[in-house]
Amino acid sequence: MKPTIVILISGRGSNMAAILSASLPIKVAAVISNQADATGLELAAAQGIPTAVVDHRAFSTREDFDAALQNAIDQFSPQLVVLAGFMRILSPQFVAHYEKRLINIHPSLLPAFPGLHTHRQALAAGVRIHGCTVHFVTDRLDHGPIVVQAAVPVLQGDTEALLSARVLRREHVIYSRALRWWAEGRLHWQEDCIHVDGEFQNFGGLSAPEPVA
Ligand code: GAR
Repeated sequence: MKPTIVILISGRGSNMAAILSASLPIKVAAVISNQADATGLELAAAQGIPTAVVDHRAFSTREDFDAALQNAIDQFSPQLVVLAGFMRILSPQFVAHYEKRLINIHPSLLPAFPGLHTHRQALAAGVRIHGCTVHFVTDRLDHGPIVVQAAVPVLQGDTEALLSARVLRREHVIYSRALRWWAEGRLHWQEDCIHVDGEFQNFGGLSAPEPVA
């Protein structure tokens, strides 16, 4: 039987769409958002995937929201909860409930540039290489064991929009790749490091340089 995931989104849902179209050996049991107008919800519904909204504004504390979100997720009994552009900080209780079952994509080469506006941060820092990271979630924001990273060049004249689009194209590739490894039982925790097929591998995120426009 295919392992089951629930995807959490807050908006556009392009990573979710990439996961849905990747023909993974995974059942996407539901897509849940904290924003009723998240465009990704329509796309999921159009593919016959159950959707739900848990609006954070209806709760007075983070813990109450997280408890309601957890309740909504657990109705689908997922083996993995996949954060795909889910823009809420999660409480330690929530993270502990999904220990080793909560995975995220972040638009930077962590541990560089945690938090928001990662492309702006990268341009301000003048880095020449930027990228994205798939990692398991721990209660330290934008940290946690790395599964795969992809790097892109930062080019002269880059804007946040250009850099973000370049990174996003790589996000769509590595998130599906990480989920395929997970579904195939190929990810193993070695203390705080994730090994693929029992080894520390670094083949997943490296790509040929994109042509300079
Ligand atoms: C993606 O770039 C994702 O990495 C980022 O939000 C965007 C969502 O786009 N996530 C974070 O910043 C989480 N800290 P999408 O809705 O089109 O997938």
